Amino acid sequence: MITTVATTPIAGQKPGTSGLRKKTPVFMSRHYLENFVQAIFDVVGAKGKAFVLGGDGRYFNDRAAQVILRMAAANGAARVIVGQGAILSTPAASHLIRLNQTDGGIIMSASHNPGGPDEDFGVKFNMPNGGPAPEAVTEAMFQRTTEITEYRMLEAQDVDLGRIGRHQLGDMVVDVVDPVTDYAALMETLFDFGAIRAMFAGGFRMRMDSMCAVTGPYAVEVLENRLGAPKGTCVNATPLPDFGGMHPDPNPTWAKALMDEMFSDAAPDFGAASDGDGDRNMVVGRGIYVSPSDSLAVLAANAHLAPGYAKGLRGVARSMPTSAAADRVADALGIGKYETPTGWKFFGNLLDAGQATICGEESFGTGSDHVREKDGLWAVLLWLNILAVRKQSVAEILREHWAKFGRNYYSRHDFEAIETARADAMFAALRGSLSDLPGRQVEGMVVQSADDFAYTDPVDGSVSQKQGVRVLFQDGSRIVYRLSGTGTEGATLRVYLERYAAGPSGLDLDAQAALAPVIRAAHALAGIADHTGRTAPDVVT
Ligand code: G1P
Ligand code: ZN
Repeated sequence: MITTVATTPIAGQKPGTSGLRKKTPVFMSRHYLENFVQAIFDVVGAKGKAFVLGGDGRYFNDRAAQVILRMAAANGAARVIVGQGAILSTPAASHLIRLNQTDGGIIMSASHNPGGPDEDFGVKFNMPNGGPAPEAVTEAMFQRTTEITEYRMLEAQDVDLGRIGRHQLGDMVVDVVDPVTDYAALMETLFDFGAIRAMFAGGFRMRMDSMCAVTGPYAVEVLENRLGAPKGTCVNATPLPDFGGMHPDPNPTWAKALMDEMFSDAAPDFGAASDGDGDRNMVVGRGIYVSPSDSLAVLAANAHLAPGYAKGLRGVARSMPTSAAADRVADALGIGKYETPTGWKFFGNLLDAGQATICGEESFGTGSDHVREKDGLWAVLLWLNILAVRKQSVAEILREHWAKFGRNYYSRHDFEAIETARADAMFAALRGSLSDLPGRQVEGMVVQSADDFAYTDPVDGSVSQKQGVRVLFQDGSRIVYRLSGTGTEGATLRVYLERYAAGPSGLDLDAQAALAPVIRAAHALAGIADHTGRTAPDVVT
């Protein structure tokens, strides 16, 4: 029996960089989830369609899945493929959409944000290509939430999402699938599992920290079961609704236990961590941290060593705030390079058009055209494949890379939970000062140009404005300022800092030390302390 429930618009249901994210109690409040899901179906249409559904297992994931299923049935969907227990990593969901050629999918996740009754929850829609909905679509969904008057709900019992196989919900089919199997099979087509298995058999050791989030089962199956890494290689491998109280963001601050181990005497050869929904990765060698921007560059330069990329790359794309290290590789390879706004959705067109093969963001995201999301475990496997072929340490590979291409020293400083009005005032002042900046001298550097990044998509011509303020210096150094679009509390200011060293000397400095003048210039030019009251960042990556 289908009921039509009267509702009224709820303010603020505007998707950000990656879907709609709010505090869990907000998502659990009356009509909140239902309004947004109905808006999704109103925009993309549900009648006769097939979708994928899954999430990162955070608190409310299981109950939200039952609501979304009942609404899909009530809106006339023909079939929904759900990960067992309503679990799917974001890259695995992207893969299932493509593999089954569904009309898209709904992913329940707030990515790297903490989970739990008082933490964050999120919902996003991915398109039939497996990628996050573009701005025009999310904007239409938001518009719909502002005029919604009713939603449709099937009255039925819960579907047993613990049982793999076919279920019926009203007229709709629900296929519950193992979340890992198809994804693991895809990885086997891309990487030389034999070579990696031989490396583990030869004594190579790694630590994989899944941070009590969704990649645990994927990592155990692929690394321990299929590649023969010793049992216990994967830690924090059981997904928990509150991520065990962890902040499942794989960076040196939040994955501190992994960093400590990798810099200790007992460090294994290789370390990696992934985030809440499995699309981010951090990679660490014994005694050496790999910045995400460098990781992208090294992967691009060596991808041909893996079978899935043996024919070479079509192009490399990076988000604008990501360092230009990958550009140098693209130039050397004579392939295309692209600079997009922040957010994986901007890579979709380039991947679909076959213009880019590998993409990456400084925010611990790397991926390729195998899916339409960034993919944490994929990046780990590509690194393992490269290590297995080159038979060198991470440190040796990085040093050789810098010697060849020069080094883009890079760091991001985050200032969290700033009062929104103060952050807005800082940006207004900064934007107002841009035309005065060229020629100005600061910290011994001269500003060459300053602008507010705008992007014209080379495939469909769509334009995205105001994607971050950039200040470029004559010596090649760069500062970028952006406000986060994924937070749920106040404003988060992100300051991205970069300085290029051509070598051969000066390639082995500590990044913060190498960037010290750029950091001081960033504070001076934007008046960060005056506007926000903050003199030091909360998180440094
Ligand atoms: C952040 C990252 C961005 C990433 C997004 C989703 O967005 O900076 O690169 O695509 O999370 O994982 P932001 O909070 O900066 O808007
Ligand atoms: Zn994520």
